[in-house]
Amino acid sequence: MSNLVTLDETIDVRRPLNEVFAYVSEFSRIDEWDPAVARGHKLTPGAPAVGSEYRIDMKAGFSLHYTIIELEQDKRMLMTVDSKLFTAREEILFSKTKSGTRVRYIAKFDFPAPLAAAHRLYPAAMERVGKSAMAGLQAALEDDFEAPEESRRLALADRLVLPGLWRFTRLGYRESRRRWNPVSAYLGDRHAVITGATSGVGLAAARELASLGARLTLVARNRRKGNAVVRELQSESGNKDIALEIADMSVMKDVHALADRLLAAGKPVDILVNNAGALFNPRQQTPEGLEKSFALLLLGPYILTERLQPLLAKSGDARVVNVSSGGMYSQKIHVDDLQSSRGRYSGSVAYARAKRGLMILTEEWAGRWRKDGITVNAMHPGWADTPGVETALPGFYRATQHLLRSPEEGADTIVWLAAASEAGDVSGKFWLDREQHPSHIGRRTRESAAERKQLLATLQDLLASTRPAATRKKRTRKRAA
Ligand SMILES: NC(=O)c1ccc[n+]([C@@H]2O[C@H](COP(=O)([O-])OP(=O)(O)OC[C@H]3O[C@@H](n4cnc5c(N)ncnc54)[C@H](OP(=O)(O)O)[C@@H]3O)[C@@H](O)[C@H]2O)c1
Repeated sequence: MSNLVTLDETIDVRRPLNEVFAYVSEFSRIDEWDPAVARGHKLTPGAPAVGSEYRIDMKAGFSLHYTIIELEQDKRMLMTVDSKLFTAREEILFSKTKSGTRVRYIAKFDFPAPLAAAHRLYPAAMERVGKSAMAGLQAALEDDFEAPEESRRLALADRLVLPGLWRFTRLGYRESRRRWNPVSAYLGDRHAVITGATSGVGLAAARELASLGARLTLVARNRRKGNAVVRELQSESGNKDIALEIADMSVMKDVHALADRLLAAGKPVDILVNNAGALFNPRQQTPEGLEKSFALLLLGPYILTERLQPLLAKSGDARVVNVSSGGMYSQKIHVDDLQSSRGRYSGSVAYARAKRGLMILTEEWAGRWRKDGITVNAMHPGWADTPGVETALPGFYRATQHLLRSPEEGADTIVWLAAASEAGDVSGKFWLDREQHPSHIGRRTRESAAERKQLLATLQDLLASTRPAATRKKRTRKRAA
């Protein structure tokens, strides 16, 4: 004997129909809005379609297996639900209203006899669960959240060093995650450029942005690897709007050529993620004679971002995300030795100084470009288990492996800064796990106004002197005309 229970709930939201459908139909995001859900997982590749399957882990300790059996774009989706406790059919209907979109959720649960009896004892329980899920969906879609401000608690933890370092681990990620809001922003019309998208944190960020529907330009130094990533992301997400650009970000000739190509194409850049990175031991130089950490982690992002400014401004609402590192807390910028040529070279020190420089640029650009609607933020991925960490820091990797977070967890704040509506309200800050952290934890890493000025002047000189003559001449001719 079995017993059918029906839920029928409706909400109205002030969001366009296509945005609501895009958010809800990617059903693995249910963990953002249904308080009873611990985690949603997409089991099948591609965009949501008939046959797409999801595993939804409930906080109560069991899982539900969802399969989409009917899907009409912007109209309805019908899913079967299987679990140890019950089976169900859930239908979600979408319709346009004067002020936005109506979402109607109808679920028919089929409980086996013993549970049906339990259900009769608590008749309102299912209804409460359904209502709280729909209230959660309404809040997610209304998308009226505020970006967190810098908290004294976090700043103190960072200053005490050990509690701050704990936050870099996967435990810190898990602790912060409990306070997060849903991200229902629509990215279908946003163009994101991501450097270092072939591995680790950059690949994870690209994967998530692809699944959110953004139009991607991936920057890679290796064409074969880049093409493989494009194919992989296209097939996983069903998003075909993924292009590849080749550039070695430590070679300024390549960075200028990349900027030239993007400027010539003229497509606004809504999101720029400066992520490509590595740690070099011993000291190495590029073919252009630049020290590699400086070239890849500071000068490359400087030239690319400065030169793409017109395309960022064209967006009207652009986000620049600079992938920095907690390592910057240990170093001050050395403006007279940006290329670590004096004294004994340490890869970790050169790396941390370059990341410190990137934080200074973040603050500078944030102030200068606010009027153009461009927000610029820096973030720390935490300690993430990536090929970069394993190769560059094998000892650290072995010692901390069980505490490292996944590349996806490390990339989360990149995606949040790039996508979340509320993240667009803050600029010039340093973030870890969607929380604001101080950019310095002591006075000794602070640069003076004169040092900052000198850094900017040196970078600007290098931008000009590394620019191939042909593009320089073309610009001068244009100006003269
Ligand atoms: N993982 C962490 O715990 C951690 C912590 C703090 C900060 N970060 C920062 O996070 C960013 C990503 O690091 P990751 O750990 O994900 O490292 P990763 O797995 O080694 O990935 C680095 C990415 O950068 C690319 N890249 C390296 N050198 C390049 C160059 N010269 N030109 C163009 N692309 C280049 C790599 O391309 P290939 O695939 O061709 O090698 C790869 O796509 C870096 O900026 C790093 O400093 C990471």
